[in-house]
Amino acid sequence: MQTEHERIDIRPVEIKSTVVLQLTHSDGRATTTKNISANKSDVLALISSGYSNILVENTEGAMSLRITKSGDAQVHYEKKKLEQDLMHDKKKERLLDPTDPFLIEVGISDHKGNIKPSKNDKYKQVEEFLRLLVPALNSAIDAGHIGKPSKAKPLSIVDLGCGHAYLTFAAHQYLHNIGMPVVVTGIDVRTQSRDRNNAIADKLGISKTINFLAEEIAITKAQAADVAIALHACDTATDDAIAWAVNGEAKLLLIAPCCHHDIQKQMDQSPEPWGAITKFGVMKERMGDLLTDSLRAQILRIVGYRVEVIEFIGGEHTPRNIMIRALKTGAKPDPLDIARYREITTQWAITPALEKKLPTLNIG
Ligand SMILES: C[S@@+](CC[C@H](N)C(=O)[O-])C[C@H]1O[C@@H](n2cnc3c(N)ncnc32)[C@H](O)[C@@H]1O
Repeated sequence: MQTEHERIDIRPVEIKSTVVLQLTHSDGRATTTKNISANKSDVLALISSGYSNILVENTEGAMSLRITKSGDAQVHYEKKKLEQDLMHDKKKERLLDPTDPFLIEVGISDHKGNIKPSKNDKYKQVEEFLRLLVPALNSAIDAGHIGKPSKAKPLSIVDLGCGHAYLTFAAHQYLHNIGMPVVVTGIDVRTQSRDRNNAIADKLGISKTINFLAEEIAITKAQAADVAIALHACDTATDDAIAWAVNGEAKLLLIAPCCHHDIQKQMDQSPEPWGAITKFGVMKERMGDLLTDSLRAQILRIVGYRVEVIEFIGGEHTPRNIMIRALKTGAKPDPLDIARYREITTQWAITPALEKKLPTLNIG
């Protein structure tokens, strides 16, 4: 089924003493909100219009429902106390308190604890990244794909191409705040990043559970991790990150790619009729981006991951807003995935960087 929108949020709001339903959806650039009368709307029809992930919250808890490809329903209930808030201009709940010392130290907030205007986009990217990491992590733990983190065996996360480590510290602090034992490693080729980030960890007194290495991802000595994350690791550094995770059998990957030059440089001969697209420079570039990320997703499926490709944030905060989220299930590869992969790469005469970095990839 194909839903009209990628995601839709529905909540009751009170307007002029009447409770109506507020429906919000985004097309990746703009958010559209409309209010409809609660008794006229057919919410059930909307819910059964093809969405594969549904979250229903009430004051007593939450129920999440995931419809698998084979049509099975995976249902998860969680008891928690939630406040009903009928304010119609409710702001999204923040996951990261701008006054948290780590945000001040990494330079996202000023010394008074206000987000610096120049860092607002990065703050939003990191928050939205966490919004996708946390439920994926919880459901991977619930389903037994990742062992329940404990003090003796904390969850391990590696952030590849961490730069100034906004996301690295955010993941560490957020999971620490919700009581999940975690050890986090940030890897970046730049020694200045390592030194600066380790100094911040020391200052915050958290260097036992977070540390930074100055290494190339492709040859890092970092141990395998449960979760691999990467936010805008340049060009093929994203492929290095995925390859590192796959080779180390990371269970969960959240990868938001950056620029894509590798495939674009190989697109000399477009198979017809695609020349109609690649004769325009800007279209060729976008086609290259699409090919790169679809083939990355395809490879992940072939090596036993369940893969989603999603927009993790509105395009106004970064044009690089695609995320590849993958969970290792160990499922056998679908021959159709292999056939499609081979056909696309043969037609376009391209070899994705990721393929070269996975010597054990079995694509016949
Ligand atoms: C665009 S920045 C993103 C930094 C950070 N993840 C963020 O979102 O703020 C990309 C980072 O990847 C690092 N990088 C690029 N290629 C790398 C490689 N092959 N190995 C390790 N780090 C790399 C760069 O030094 C840079 O800090």
